[in-house]
Amino acid sequence: MTTLRTLTLTVIVAVVACLVQAKESYGFGRSLLQTCKKSGDRCSLYATSECCDGLVCTMPLECTSKGDRSECLPECRKQTLSNLTRIEYPSNSGTTPGFEGGKKYKPAVVVMQEWWGVNDAIKQTALHIAEQGYRVLIPDLYRGRVAVERMEAIGLSSDLNWTRGIDDVVKAVEYLRRTGSKKVAIIGFCQGGGMALCGAQFARVDAALPFYGIPSNFTGCNPRLIPRSVPVQAHFGTNDTSFPITTRVMPLVDSMRAASVDIKLYLYDGLPHAFFNAITPAGRLLMSGGSSNFKFPNETLVTLAFSRTTNFLRLHIRH
Ligand SMILES: *[C@@H]1O[C@H](CO)[C@@H](O)[C@H](O)[C@H]1NC(C)=O
Ligand SMILES: *[C@@H]1O[C@H](CO)[C@@H](O)[C@H](O)[C@H]1NC(C)=O
Ligand SMILES: *[C@@H]1O[C@H](CO)[C@@H](O)[C@H](O)[C@H]1NC(C)=O
Ligand SMILES: *[C@@H]1O[C@H](CO)[C@@H](O)[C@H](O)[C@H]1NC(C)=O
Ligand SMILES: *[C@@H]1O[C@H](CO)[C@@H](O)[C@H](O)[C@H]1NC(C)=O
Repeated sequence: MTTLRTLTLTVIVAVVACLVQAKESYGFGRSLLQTCKKSGDRCSLYATSECCDGLVCTMPLECTSKGDRSECLPECRKQTLSNLTRIEYPSNSGTTPGFEGGKKYKPAVVVMQEWWGVNDAIKQTALHIAEQGYRVLIPDLYRGRVAVERMEAIGLSSDLNWTRGIDDVVKAVEYLRRTGSKKVAIIGFCQGGGMALCGAQFARVDAALPFYGIPSNFTGCNPRLIPRSVPVQAHFGTNDTSFPITTRVMPLVDSMRAASVDIKLYLYDGLPHAFFNAITPAGRLLMSGGSSNFKFPNETLVTLAFSRTTNFLRLHIRH
């Protein structure tokens, strides 16, 4: 009898311990235990299962400071958009495919892919931007091709015809304006950061936000020729080995300033290349190369980059 009672007790203790463990490790059973975070609760961009079902951890909507992260901490919010729609818009190559989301009358943000192509990481990043009240469009420069490993990405990237790519960007901006968006910004990451600078030079954009990218000379782009009327907000990590600050970033930025380009440069201490991928689950998977030993870049700094982005967008294309 005593043995049976001890056994029952042991089983109960084990089950409870297991539930608690499961909750802590996977967020499993949280509806049972009621520990998920509600709308408006502070959360971590890196924790995928902190927020209650149907909510995502993202930046608050009206983050009014000038990049002061104390007013711009991520919180659980209901996602209004669950996916992007594949579209085609007219260009010199006939049509260019792209992925669009958000309301047509909203100010728009053209989101430029990394060298991987239009994968889930860039789509999720675009959705985070759309959540801030924007229409988004990702032009698909590779026309459906997506790299899953590094060598493939290098191949696709070196095959990219920048003349055609720049036309894809110019026509994306024209399409957005023609179909309801009065203001259009361009943001891009890595290869797309370079393309965002090309867009600032050649497309009629109201603002440009290049992240850790610079167009090579052969692309036909020269960021020093960006019109003074196009404000540029650039973001680089000091541990970016692809675009070292002293040898690549500063010489370009100094020469842009000397040419009167309106550029604000933000450097992030210790952050690696492609750090903005850390804001989405697919991006984190990409940074870790699919393995689980991903070292999370400093979340305070990644959050700061996000809040500077939303502040800049609101300042230049919301009104
Ligand atoms: C979103 O769209 C992509 C293709 O554009 C598709 O692969 C994915 O399954 C969709 N996700 C959801 C949640 O509908
Ligand atoms: C790149 O694209 C442009 C415009 O579409 C075209 O004229 C040119 O021939 C292309 N270059 C190469 C090397 O394919
Ligand atoms: C690119 O062009 C600029 C301006 O003409 C020049 O200063 C720079 O050295 C060039 N870079 C390369 C890698 O050729
Ligand atoms: C950045 O690079 C420096 C020098 O290579 C290294 O000591 C430091 O640990 C790196 N920082 C991070 C956050 O990885
Ligand atoms: C992250 O960056 C902030 C701001 O620079 C710094 O105060 C903090 O110590 C960093 N955190 C870690 C874990 O390095």
